[in-house]
This record gives sequence, structure tokens and C-alpha cells, in this order.
Amino acid sequence: MAFRHKNAKRIEGLDSNVWVEFTSLAADPSVVNLGQGLPDISPPNYLKEELAKVAFVNRLNQYTRGFGHPLLVKALSQVYGKVCGRKIDPYTDILVTIGAYGSLFSAMQGLIEVEDEVIIIEPYYDCYVDMVKMAGAKPVCIPLRYKPAAGGDVASSADWVLDPAGLASKFNPKTKAIVLNTPHNPIGKVYTKEELQKIADLCIKHDILCISDEVYEWLVYTGKKHIKIATLPGMWERTVTIGSVGKTYTVTGWKLGWSIGPQHLIKHLQVVHQNSLYTCPTPLQEAVAQALLIDFKRMDESDCYFYSLPKELEGKRNQLARMLQEAGLKPVVPEGGYFMVVDVSTLNVDLSDMEEDKPYDYKFVKWMIKNKKLAAIPLSSFCGPETQQKFEKYIRFCFIKEDSTLDAAEKILKNWKKR
Ligand SMILES: Cc1ncc(COP(=O)(O)O)c(C=O)c1O
Repeated sequence: MAFRHKNAKRIEGLDSNVWVEFTSLAADPSVVNLGQGLPDISPPNYLKEELAKVAFVNRLNQYTRGFGHPLLVKALSQVYGKVCGRKIDPYTDILVTIGAYGSLFSAMQGLIEVEDEVIIIEPYYDCYVDMVKMAGAKPVCIPLRYKPAAGGDVASSADWVLDPAGLASKFNPKTKAIVLNTPHNPIGKVYTKEELQKIADLCIKHDILCISDEVYEWLVYTGKKHIKIATLPGMWERTVTIGSVGKTYTVTGWKLGWSIGPQHLIKHLQVVHQNSLYTCPTPLQEAVAQALLIDFKRMDESDCYFYSLPKELEGKRNQLARMLQEAGLKPVVPEGGYFMVVDVSTLNVDLSDMEEDKPYDYKFVKWMIKNKKLAAIPLSSFCGPETQQKFEKYIRFCFIKEDSTLDAAEKILKNWKKR
């Protein structure tokens, strides 16, 4: 007898997922995995020690406050109060979630209405579009354009810009929100104050919300500064800023995140959270709170983890850029985050015998994993079908890796070039 129950309409067409597919391909231990954003460097010792201590405090192994463990929301209010230059109420302006994913989901479900439009900048972190669709709304995409700076012989993520007129044309009476991601995954772009101001002006003019995914907020490289759009005049009231423990402390497996914003927005995210997950793991929240309090005290010193991690990563970024350049490729050097995209079309790999009806980069990465034992992620998976062609010559590498992993990748690239 055929089973009569089908999927709910709201998840129709959302079943494929780039991470599931490429993570399983890269799982072969002989493959050097620079694909998924999976750090293999050690998280800070004091964070690990805090977690070990917590396990022995009985009450910290039980449920805690649903919207965020009290010590954690207090620590977050101190850190972000300093960053934003305003008082942040730990109980009304913050929601702790399962990863930044949980915050994105709560924001979409709590604030986006069926048939609303949500502007998303391409390439985008892939779950934005699916979460908008799950809320019954329509994603409206606008691609970043490649506009290389005159005379620059090294491609930079700053060369990828939003066309202000194109962006303005996407706002209409159905628009409810724009999703911003800075520092950007996958390009590594760190939006400038001028770029953010243009977005803010449109949000204010059309009375639109901003969901600002800032999970790589601390990971910015020399000469660049991360600016929170919520700190621009008139934007706090309409912005939900999202952060991640995984990215802040190199513990992606802890899967904790937070939303910060005005009470009149956060309270709707709290309702979604209360009726879905209800609360997040207490021991992890306690350990993160203790670590944040340590780093809060040294926020004006260079050994604060918020600044020492990007310093360490900048060396890895430079190493990966050099390796790719020596292999004859032109990487787009990121201003922030821990990914680097690179144009692989110049390698002229013949993929005509791969039958799949997929973009070039998708086939290229599959070919590279199989034949070169090196994993990356195809950039077209961060775009809608209309824009895939624009980005299909690029693939994305992750560089938050041990030197030994990067050295193994360098060996592959050197042998590849020799042949
Ligand atoms: C831009 C962006 N947003 C959100 C997330 C999800 O973060 P979390 O693991 O905290 O859910 C990621 C993870 O890679 C990301 O790159």
C-alpha cells in the first residue's frame, strides 16, 4: 500500500544541500579537505578548560533560561555594548540560539510574512534562500559585481561590489528585509562604511528590516575594519545582528549563536525559539560566557583572542594565496573570513566526459577530489540558477587549517603544475 503522507509544501524543493554532498565526497581520508569551513586548528585552551570545569557543577548540567543562559547574555551584553557603543539589555535585546543558523531561522520565521520579499546578495550563504522560502516568502537576489580596481594585479574581495542603482531597484512595497553578510562568505568581502551607508539609506527610506549575518565579525585582516550596520544612525531599530560561537572561538561543533537587536524585534525571534528548541545546552553556554568575560577584560589588548586569531589566520591566508598564485591561478584575496575563492577556468581542465548537467565548478570540484585528492566547494552553489553562470568558474577554499594541511595542499598544487 502506498504511504499517503507526503512532505509539507513549505519544504518542497529544498532537499538538496551542497554541504551534505561535498562533505561526504571529501570524507575519504586520502583527500586534503579545504572544502567545508571546518577548522582543524585548536580552539583556545581557556575555553576548553572552562567546559571541563563546568561538567563537574551539577546545576550547570541541567536546563537553563530559554532565551539564553544568564551569565552568557550578560557577557554578550558587555562585549557588544562596548562594540556598539550602546547599552544592550541582556534579557530583552539578546537571544541565544543553536548556532547562527538558529538565529537566522528564528529571524526568518519570526519577522518574515508569507508573500513578503527578502533581498539577498549573491553569492550568499546557502541557507538564506531556503529559509526565506520556508517562511513562505520570496527571495529576491542581486549579484555582487566584479569591478577590479585600476592597476591592481592581485584580485581582492574589495573588487566585488554592489551596484547601488541595481540594489535600489529591488526595493518595493512587498520588500520586508535585506540579508547582509559581512565579512562575507564565500568572497571574503568586508563592506566599507560607505557601502553600508547606501544599504542603510535604502532600508530607512523604504522602512525595511536588516538581518545582518556577522559570524566572521572578528576575522578581518590588516587595513580593514568590520563595521556593524546596526551602529549606523537609524539602523539599530531595524537590524538583527547575528553572531556565532563556532566562528568566534574556532569551535564550530559547539553550535551556539546569538541574535542581538532591539526588544521590539528580538521578542519575535524569542517566540519562535520558545516554540521550537526552547533552550540551548547549559554547559556550552556557561563555558562560552566565562571565555567571553576573559576576552572582554582584554579587549583593548592585542592578546585578546578576537585579535590574535585573525593575526594567525592572516599568515594562512597569505600562504594559500601564494600557493595558488605559484600554481598559476588568480585567487581573490579576502579582506575577512576564512575562505578564498579562485578562478579555475585558466587550468583548462576538460570535463566534457562528465555527463552531469551541472555548472562547470561543480564538475570541476568533483573531478579535483577524485583525481587530485583536493577538496573545495563550487561557488555556483552560493547562487540562484539565474546567476550560476556568472560564478561557475570559481571554487572556494577554506584556510583555517593546520600548517600540515595547507602544506599537503601545496604539494598537490605543485605536482599538478609540474604535470
Ligand atoms: C555566513 C555564515 N552564516 C552562518 C553560518 C552558520 O554558523 P553556525 O555554525 O554558528 O550555525 C555560517 C557557517 O559557516 C556562515 O558561514
